[in-house]
Amino acid sequence: MRRKIVAANWKMNKTVSEALEFVDELKSSIRETEEAELVICPPFTALYPVSRAIEGTCLKLGAQDVYYQEKGAFTGEISPLMLEDLNCAYAIVGHSERRGYFKETDIEVNKKLRALLDHGIRPIVCVGETLEQREAGQTEELVTRQVEIAFDGVGQNDVTSVVIAYEPIWAIGTGRSATGEDANRVIGLIRRTLGKIYSDEIAKNVRIQYGGSVTPDNIAEFSRQPEIDGALVGGASLKASSFLAIARG
Ligand code: 13P
Repeated sequence: MRRKIVAANWKMNKTVSEALEFVDELKSSIRETEEAELVICPPFTALYPVSRAIEGTCLKLGAQDVYYQEKGAFTGEISPLMLEDLNCAYAIVGHSERRGYFKETDIEVNKKLRALLDHGIRPIVCVGETLEQREAGQTEELVTRQVEIAFDGVGQNDVTSVVIAYEPIWAIGTGRSATGEDANRVIGLIRRTLGKIYSDEIAKNVRIQYGGSVTPDNIAEFSRQPEIDGALVGGASLKASSFLAIARG
């Protein structure tokens, strides 16, 4: 059985005090045993305080990105070793905003993913197509390629440590989510791709989330799909009540 995983990607939002306010509110509402695994991905500046604030709770910490080198002259970057030091359980890699604004390539995503695994941090690797690619009928091909390159060199023992987030770019921050059925279809394809690379048995155990304009109002549509194992949430994760409603939805 795959445990549902719901992650809050705050993107470039929240100061330390705002982050701590969120965590306080969330802590007062969560049960020790939430059905879904809950992950909070604050900006780098809030990782340490949030890490301290969630100690002893069921909440997990995630970073929004990482560099693939361990240390050295890479001004402005953050290494997997540094994230490990802060008890980061997860780190997002290959978000479409990184791929788009910062020109991150599939090869770099693969390097980051493997560097995280080397440090015992679970990658949440994002894949997804633009509207143009969707309309040109390229979704399947594009997403398959992103998955194949992301997992290049990842041994079969590590595969189930990786979470995949299918985030169609046209659905991010637009209020226009994919339909549950459509997301389920693409996620099924991602699972079959993993099945071909590894085995169906392994693919069956990999968690694959949907992301893109998920809200408390539409989460049920995704939760009832057999292939979808939770959500990666942007805008609607900025409020503790709304994040928790999604996590329980
Ligand atoms: P929104 O939920 O704001 O559409 O963002 C989705 C996302 O990019 C999560 O990583």
